[in-house]
Amino acid sequence: MKLTDYTWEEFSQLPMSTKVECFKKEDGFPAHTLFAQQFDRETLDRLCDLATKIRKIAKKRDGMLFLNSLLSHKRAMLYFSQPSSRTFLSFYSACQILGLKVAEVRDAATSSEFKGESKEDSIRTFSSYFDLIIMRTQEKGLAEHMAWTLSNSERPLPIINAGSGKDQHPTQALLDIYTLKRSFEDNGGLDNRSIMYVGDLLRGRTVRSLSNLLMNYENIEHIFVAPPELQIKQDILDMLAANGSKYSVLTDMRERLSDVDAVYMTRIQDEWDKSKGESASIDISSYKIGKKEIDSMKPTSVLLHPLPRRDEISTECDHDPRAMYWRQMRNGMWIRAALIAATFDCTEAILAYNVE
Ligand code: CP
Repeated sequence: MKLTDYTWEEFSQLPMSTKVECFKKEDGFPAHTLFAQQFDRETLDRLCDLATKIRKIAKKRDGMLFLNSLLSHKRAMLYFSQPSSRTFLSFYSACQILGLKVAEVRDAATSSEFKGESKEDSIRTFSSYFDLIIMRTQEKGLAEHMAWTLSNSERPLPIINAGSGKDQHPTQALLDIYTLKRSFEDNGGLDNRSIMYVGDLLRGRTVRSLSNLLMNYENIEHIFVAPPELQIKQDILDMLAANGSKYSVLTDMRERLSDVDAVYMTRIQDEWDKSKGESASIDISSYKIGKKEIDSMKPTSVLLHPLPRRDEISTECDHDPRAMYWRQMRNGMWIRAALIAATFDCTEAILAYNVE
């Protein structure tokens, strides 16, 4: 069955495994990138290899000119109705690397939504002018709904979810996987690793998407560390249990800090507070990494953060070789360039390019 065979009411009720098949291109890559669940180990490996090839090609002027020529006939709309620095700029740069021309709406109040236009009509409007829509939204599921809407229109152009509500941030998870793979590539790879997620796990969408993608690797142990009020939701634990993945839920990161392979810090997501200052009363003082904490980590471990950070990682850690968050941010540009290239079927041309 295809996306066009369903009404939205039918489609929205389908199990994730069926939806994923509807969004798949013949080459296995997603037509629309909406959920972490759309990636299996093979597509992750292919995408990471493509990102590495793009990174290498871009080192030389001739290579950059080749990349710039690939999608110079395409235009992308960056529709970000939630604040963003990294995701917006790395997608912007990724488009530039591949030659796409870019336009943006960063505040719905500056578009005709302010005059009462529906989001559906806004997206249909963007589809009249562009070949790709990259969108970040407050609403869970909006990117999926828009992908269905466009696939049932005369202009079925691809949508990439750049963060939707508290639910999904699939391209952040892709760059996290790419960073973890690069971190462990000379030291046994990403299988058989333990990862500790720390912070606001209740409202952070990055941990939800990353824990999902990590199920594609062998024998990954997940350790969720948060104050009880901000602990990971049961649906993620149920998903890991159904997959046979080992997990634990802790309140004190010192129980495992010295033996895990990766620590994934997150900030308090107080933009989701239901009342002003709601999460300010939660004691988060022990969910921070400073010099003492990083010194207690294994020499071969890595420290990640999707950023932005507040004070959950001290700047004293920034030059420690285990601190991966700056590299992680730059990896976002390469993996997003790879994703856009895969979306537009440029993989073979990139892989065939000879890097001396
Ligand atoms: N990690 C992340 O999504 O950062 P931005 O909110 O700055 O895009």
